[in-house]
Amino acid sequence: MPLDRYGEANRANWDERVAGHWASEFYDIEGFKAGKPPLYQIDIDAVGDLTGKSLIHLQCHIGTDTLGLARLGANVTGIDFSGESINAARRLSEESGVPGRFFETDLYESPNVVKEQFDIVFTGNGAICWLPDLKAWGQVITRFLKPGGTFYIREGHPLMWALQYDDVAPGEYILEQPYFYSDAPFAEDDEGSYADGQWDVKNKRQYNWKHSLGETVMALINAGLVIDSLIEHQEMNWEPLPGMITGEDGQRRLPEKYQDFVPLMFSIKAHKPA
Ligand SMILES: C[S@@+](CC[C@H](N)C(=O)[O-])C[C@H]1O[C@@H](n2cnc3c(N)ncnc32)[C@H](O)[C@@H]1O
Repeated sequence: MPLDRYGEANRANWDERVAGHWASEFYDIEGFKAGKPPLYQIDIDAVGDLTGKSLIHLQCHIGTDTLGLARLGANVTGIDFSGESINAARRLSEESGVPGRFFETDLYESPNVVKEQFDIVFTGNGAICWLPDLKAWGQVITRFLKPGGTFYIREGHPLMWALQYDDVAPGEYILEQPYFYSDAPFAEDDEGSYADGQWDVKNKRQYNWKHSLGETVMALINAGLVIDSLIEHQEMNWEPLPGMITGEDGQRRLPEKYQDFVPLMFSIKAHKPA
């Protein structure tokens, strides 16, 4: 199925972000080539020993995490609907000498492009907010998993995405956006990327969807997966809100008075019954 106008706008926006992300400190491409691990430690701990495992990374962007997982021993495949992202991921694979296969495809079409099944399906880090339909997302995950295979996601928490900061003092937040799903996407203009700060993109308009924690968990359960763990985190590895505090561990947290009130990320581990 062709992308609708929301998907087209999002893809144009993501394509345009790639050059800036490739050059950014956040993605640290030169560091990756020099062997610096891009992955967040809690993801490494969660996925466990990857030696010889087949893994598909959904919405892999420029492939840093995908190839980081390859460095840990997995045979990796990445999919993303942004052709520029896929070109960058292939380039990174070639220039770093870390093997990986990358396919340009919309997530919902990806089972028609990548035919096999995998030991691990890996995703997250700002991925599902771009997806209109989590029920269909769950079906894609099940289709890609071998019986007994593992699914892992770490994402921005939907309560964190409901915070707003535009009309309040720096470091203050109010609950202003909905927590629950609505069919109509949220339209936002991209005034800068999480990786680059201010920049000037032509394709500014992007559309995202709210997915509550319950909706996400049920999408996985209804697709036939068994949930093994669900963890809510008080820190995160990127900075979607202004006024966050970066700790000595490099992680971002809300100012202290909010820390026990709002989770910033969640992670879920699940498996497909054998
Ligand atoms: C924030 S990035 C994900 C971050 C990535 N995991 C990383 O660590 O760099 C979101 C990615 O989702 C991709 N994306 C958005 N909607 C998609 C869709 N419908 N199908 C496939 N990829 C999509 C974008 O192109 C983008 O590369």
